[in-house]
Formats: sequence, structure tokens, C-alpha cells
Amino acid sequence: MAANIIDDSHLEKTQEMFAKCQEVISGGESSYARLIGTRPIVMERGEGAYFFDVDGNAYVDWCLGYGPMIFGHRPKPLLDSIIVQITQGGMLYTFPHELDYEVGRKIVQAVPGIEQLRFANSGSEATQAAIRLARAYTGKDKVMKWEGSYNGFLDSQAYSHVPAADAWGTEKFPRTLPSGAGIPRVMEETVVVAPFNDIEAVEVLVKRHRDQLACVLAEPILADAGIIQPVPGFLEGLRRICDENDVVLIFDEVITGFRVSLGGAQELYGITPDITCVAKAVGGGTPGAAAFGGKKELMELEADGTVLHGGTYSGNPMTLAGMNAALDILINDRERVYGHLNTIANAMVAGMRGIFEENGVPAYVSQVGPMWQVFFGHEEPVTRYRQARASDTRFFEQLQTECQARGVYFHNFNFERFFASTAHTKTEVDRSLEVIAEATKIVKDRLGVPTAG
Ligand SMILES: Cc1ncc(COP(=O)(O)O)c(C=O)c1O
Repeated sequence: MAANIIDDSHLEKTQEMFAKCQEVISGGESSYARLIGTRPIVMERGEGAYFFDVDGNAYVDWCLGYGPMIFGHRPKPLLDSIIVQITQGGMLYTFPHELDYEVGRKIVQAVPGIEQLRFANSGSEATQAAIRLARAYTGKDKVMKWEGSYNGFLDSQAYSHVPAADAWGTEKFPRTLPSGAGIPRVMEETVVVAPFNDIEAVEVLVKRHRDQLACVLAEPILADAGIIQPVPGFLEGLRRICDENDVVLIFDEVITGFRVSLGGAQELYGITPDITCVAKAVGGGTPGAAAFGGKKELMELEADGTVLHGGTYSGNPMTLAGMNAALDILINDRERVYGHLNTIANAMVAGMRGIFEENGVPAYVSQVGPMWQVFFGHEEPVTRYRQARASDTRFFEQLQTECQARGVYFHNFNFERFFASTAHTKTEVDRSLEVIAEATKIVKDRLGVPTAG
């Protein structure tokens, strides 16, 4: 049965409200990433695996607030915990509280690389704090990051996420390109951009910069370029190279932490970094859920005040109450939660692969556990960032637009990804696959067979 189309006539309030937002909010939204896409969505509310716009249209949500809402929208245990905390305790203390201990203890027990931690207010803050700690520990300034990785929007991290192809240099030794204007040129000199999954090139670059290189800020799975998993041996090689060159290994597990496994990618692949950053899933959608932590030897520099880290809202009890409830579910119900996330993701991935194959649409659907993405025009596995960039993004964007118009939402940018939640069931999987099948036919008829360019 063909899905109903959410066209302009069903989006009147949305358009009106978005225009109003644009009057007072620059661009209408407070993050660049949310302005990518063909049609604005103005939210009314979320519920489980769905959200509803102000016109009353329902969407199956595979974006989940860019990943945090691992239990879907409005999970009752988290809301209850936050409500009890704010109504009976308060929103902000700026003194230690039992929740600091409880949440800290649970994260330390779950994540192999975290012996001690500090709370932050966002993933960007956590990675910035981790970089500073690595600089203080090593007495060196430079940071290595992957081409195609997004580690936050701050001056120390915002490079080469989606670099312009006419300026990005060679694949083995990419140029460092700021992700936007306004980042001081002098900061650029502190960033070395390296190719994910090319261990030889990484080793050459680490050795070349070893006297200045403080850390490798590594997404262990390149999850900000679609989904690209590490090839066998890559993370092992990275650990060895960092050890041999006195370079701190930071895992940015903002996306992967508490998602691909309770202990994150480091648990999944068995590689322990020196510092780990977590956010998103660890709070199940609680705003401000973020932390960085590592070996006690490093964290001692925070404790004795050698390194400056602060934040009025860091470790606020409102956020910690949400994180605490999220962690209780993730830890106590571990098998059910991760089993369910993987079942949903596996069903979507198998379904999507089947649809593309049946329609003669070359596509590689890349998956690690509960997250996945499709790269059109490829039949071989996508293991490199520049291979992902060669995907037929126009095909992807038009597919997304058709799906959004039929009430199935995933992000319009090919280098975001799909996320599963515990609120998704077979109903949402079936509905989504039906819509994706319909949209695939439409886009193929319009654009022809996708090709990697
Ligand atoms: C891997 C990674 N690190 C850091 C960040 C920044 O987190 P935040 O948006 O909470 O600042 C993101 C955000 O998407 C991310 O994907």
C-alpha cells in the first residue's frame, strides 16, 4: 500500500513556525547540522520510536536526536528520575552529591579505559578537555584526528570533517582544512589530519610529528562519515604506534560509547585507550550528558589543578539523574537492551540490502551493531573515507526526501547514520522498509542507477 504523502498542504504550521524561528534564531536552528536537508521539521513532541511535527504528522525516527535517545523518546524511567531530582532535590548544586558517585562508579565499571572521570556538558567539551589533558601530560601541542571525523565544533577539533575535495591533498597525507571560517590559522598548525584505516600512513605521520604530537583523537569507528568500521589490525596498530612514540591515545566514543557495546568500541574490539570521551547514549537523551576519563595517572593532573577544567553545569544533578537511570537500564538489562538494538538494526540492514539488490541499485550498507548507513554506487565494502565521499550522495538525499515525505525519518546527510533504539519494534521496521522500497523505485526511475564518482 502506498504511503500517504506529507506535502506542503500537510506542513502549513511547520512552515509558519519555522519562518518565525528564523526571525529570532539565526538560520532557525541552533546547530549547523540540523539545517542540512530539504524540508524543515518543527517538532511538537516525541513518543517512543516516533516524533510528531506541529502539523500532527508522525515520523518513525531513525536519527534519535543524532544518537542519544537509545531508549527512544520520553523513556519513563529517565523522566521519572529527572523529575524526582528536580522537584525534590534541585537542578543545580555545584557541590558533590551522591549522584556524582553513582554515575561515576557505573561509568568506571563499564568502560575499560576509564579509571577516573570528570563530567562535561557536551561531546565537544569532553573531547576538548581530553586534548588539553593529553597536552598537559605530554608537554606537546599537536593533535592527530581522522579525515572525515567530527569531534566537536571547537577550535581544537573542527577540521576536515567534510573537506573540500579540491583542497584536501593526497589520500595518504591529507591537508588540515578548518571546517568553517573563524578558526584561528595558528590553531590549524596544531592539527594533523590522518587517513582512518591506513595504518602505514598513520605511522609515518605519527613519527614525523612525534616530538610535537600530544595525542591521537581517534573515533574508533569512523561514525561521522556514514559508518566505517576499523579494518582488522588498525586499532591494534594504532595502540602500538602511540605507545612507541609517547603519544596519548584518546578514543572519542561520543557516538560508539554505551552503544556498540556497554563498554563501547574499546570493549568490542579489545583495545584500551588512555583517555575516553563519552556522551550521547550514556544519557539516553538527557541533555548535557558527557564525560571524559582515563588512567588515574593522567586524571591526577585534573585533581591537583595542573590542568584547568571547569563548567558551572558540569556534573549537574539534573543531567546526572537522567544518566543514572539510563545506566541502570544499560547495565542491569544489558543483554535485553543490546540484543534488541542489534535485532532491530540487523532487520533494517538485511531489509535494505534486499531492497537495493531487488531493484538493481548498487549500494553498500555498512553496519556496526545498532548503527548503519548506506553508500550508494558501491558494491565493495567501504573502508576508507574518500571511498565514502565517492558515494552517490544525490541518490541518498533524494531517497531521504522521499522517505521523510512518507513519515520515515533519517538524516538527509549521507555522512550521518541510522540508529536503532529499544523503542523500535518490528512494526516500525516493516513500515520503514515498505517506505524505503517505494522511495528506492521512485528515485531510481528519476535518477537511474547510482554510481560512485
Ligand atoms: C564522534 C563525536 N564526537 C564529538 C561530538 C560532539 O558532541 P556534541 O554535539 O555533544 O558537542 C560528536 C557530535 O556529533 C560526535 O559525533
